[in-house]
Amino acid sequence: MSNFPIKEFEAAATPFYFYDMELLRRTLDAVKDSAHDDNFHVHYAIKANANPLVIKKISEAGLGVDCVSEGEIRAALKAGFPASKIVFAGVGKGDSEIDYALDNDIECFNVESIPELQLIQEMAAVKCKVANIAIRVNPDIDAHTHHYITTGLEENKFGVALDMLRSAVDYCLKSPNLRLVGLHFHIGSQITVMEPFKLLCERINGLIDTYKKLGVEFQSINVGGGLGIDYEDPDGQPIPDFKSYFEVFRNNLRLDSTQQVHFELGRSIVGQCGSLITKVRYVKEGLKKKFVIVDAGMTDLIRPALYQAHHVIQNITSTDIATETYDVVGPICESSDCFGVEETLPVTKRGDLIAIRSAGAYGEIMASQYNCRNLPGCVTN
Ligand code: LLP
Repeated sequence: MSNFPIKEFEAAATPFYFYDMELLRRTLDAVKDSAHDDNFHVHYAIKANANPLVIKKISEAGLGVDCVSEGEIRAALKAGFPASKIVFAGVGKGDSEIDYALDNDIECFNVESIPELQLIQEMAAVKCKVANIAIRVNPDIDAHTHHYITTGLEENKFGVALDMLRSAVDYCLKSPNLRLVGLHFHIGSQITVMEPFKLLCERINGLIDTYKKLGVEFQSINVGGGLGIDYEDPDGQPIPDFKSYFEVFRNNLRLDSTQQVHFELGRSIVGQCGSLITKVRYVKEGLKKKFVIVDAGMTDLIRPALYQAHHVIQNITSTDIATETYDVVGPICESSDCFGVEETLPVTKRGDLIAIRSAGAYGEIMASQYNCRNLPGCVTN
């Protein structure tokens, strides 16, 4: 079990997110070691976690950042990411968001439709600016992940369909205030096998060849994010296998010496460094089950309720060696407010602290105030 600073935890108001900054640093080192190629550029997908302390550390490590809203661009700039390393993605960018991004001279817009290209052209023309554009292509690849987080299938709302790419490319080429720099892809999230990434490389190679024949060369290829983490073994696998991941692109993408590859990793960078720490309010005996009712709920960590995700649950203060089987649930008025069914824990009592592990990605950032609850706090080491 992780070495949690229990004394500090006991003094803090629960529930809160604990970020292990030392693990975050080691994870960032591993990313940089594995993506050492001159033409590899790693961006952090800030949607995974925009906690100011976390993103400051990531910007200090020299990564770029992938944003999907004006709010994320503002948070990124505040954390010290240079505008020249900000890419702006999203299927429904607002006019004022595009305006803000143009004013800040961000690196690139990842564009998802022709109407969006038209709007950026119009707005950039008014400002006498030229916007860098990567067209997001929907590569129609099944990432074999939860259907809510698979994004590269033909029926998803994301990107431009392969058949319509030509018109989007032509539109860029004839627009004086757009500079087409490349293509953008993202096939899904929490992908734990390398096969879908290999398929993606093949798809990209095919597109590069086709467009080369038409006289169009892409300077940059953005392959998105998606590398998964080991939710069942956070202590055994605290750092994802970045080596194999980057190796796939190194070995399978057929690029010329000037082409750049961009990555947008979210979960794999921050997932394992975060835990949701919550206090046991009651242990309740049902007819057939025992419930541990904690003070965190789906408002603090929605992943189990929304994606049927399982996070390892640990009682970090009980010293009892006997165990019991419990359903671990929150206090929200929804049956889906349940963190774990039939969890084996040391005998648990009111006041014990529970850690819900691997919660650094899509945890704190997706918290809500449903039931007029407070947002969770934050503690770091
Ligand atoms: N790039 C794009 C265009 C994306 O849409 C995403 C994630 C990423 C990069 C980063 O993907 P990652 O490396 O984190 O897999 N809330 C869900 C995950 C949603 C992912 C949305 N897009 C969850 O809790 O599992």
